[in-house]
Amino acid sequence: MAFTEQKAQKRPIKISTRLFLSVGLLFLAAGVFAVFMLNHQMKQRALTEAESKARILLDRNLATHTYFTHNLKPALFGLTDSIRDDAYFEPVWMSSTYAVRKIEQYFKNLNPAGYYYKECAINARSPENEADQREKAFLEELNADPELMKRSDIQTMNGEPHFVVLQRGEVMAETCLRCHSTPREAPGELVEHYGPHRSFGRKEGDVISAVSIRVPLSEAYREANQLSVRLSAYFLALLISLFGVLYWRSNRLIFRPLSAIREKALLISSHEEHLGEKIPLSEGRELKELAMAFNAMSGDLRRRVDQLGAQEETLQKVFDGISDPILMPIPVNELPSLL
Ligand code: HEC
Repeated sequence: MAFTEQKAQKRPIKISTRLFLSVGLLFLAAGVFAVFMLNHQMKQRALTEAESKARILLDRNLATHTYFTHNLKPALFGLTDSIRDDAYFEPVWMSSTYAVRKIEQYFKNLNPAGYYYKECAINARSPENEADQREKAFLEELNADPELMKRSDIQTMNGEPHFVVLQRGEVMAETCLRCHSTPREAPGELVEHYGPHRSFGRKEGDVISAVSIRVPLSEAYREANQLSVRLSAYFLALLISLFGVLYWRSNRLIFRPLSAIREKALLISSHEEHLGEKIPLSEGRELKELAMAFNAMSGDLRRRVDQLGAQEETLQKVFDGISDPILMPIPVNELPSLL
């Protein structure tokens, strides 16, 4: 089958196209995988950091509660015992929940990170501690399931991702009921300050509060995404340069020499006068050897064709000589007459 006929049939895809396509896709996949892994790792790290921040917030506030119970309150109660009347109530030093809430407000003004810390309760005494829907559901779960201690996950709030921790809070003990059962039993000033409804009617054993912490993740996520975009740009630049080098080198070392051999082979097959021509030797050993073999074959074929041509010429001459009348052999039947 002639080459032109083959051409007319469906042509297979070029090796160079296949090679560049597969290498390009491989590079691209490697790049996407690396960027994706880095983004994932950074977000994981942000989460670990958020966890430790939440832990610090929790421990710090717990320490404040402990300081009130073990240090401040005993000292001040001892000091004021003789002058304090039963109706007296001052949350500033008598309620660690009040202190933690106030400190939290100051902290929020100082720190722009947007942490959220709340010792929430249903029907909380201070409206600021009132549980929202999520916290309320958790508090109800806490009272139904004594095993439940803590729950943490990532939740989107106001369109921003947050690391959310909800932890079992305080349980009503007998000593607490003085201020948390009925307004009649509570110090008059407390009822005056907070009113007769909020945080009363509690029973011993009730889990009345949960600690609710939210650490915003948007900043860390934004950083992770920005770095991923930057890294993608670097990868793309690297990919394009690597691809360029690969394209240039493989064209120079493989595809151009191959194409030269192909062109020459085509030329020789269609025009005999080109037989014996050589192709330049390329750099790589394999193609250099192929070119040498091709050149040897081309030279050899030339010689053979030349030889054949020369033989043909000689034969032609012989035939031409035979047809000469002088040299024409005498027919056998004419021989006797000549003798
Ligand atoms: C002397 C009165 C008094 C006693 C005793 C008392 N509390 Fe309170 N408690 C308060 C006041 C006042 C607040 C509101 C503080 C604020 O402004 O946030 C409060 C708030 C709370 C809160 C926040 C949720 C809410 O309902 O407002 C919890 C939780 C809490 N108390 C638990 C306890 C526990 C547990 C005990 C017993 C170990 C206890 N309290 C004993 C006065 C008291």
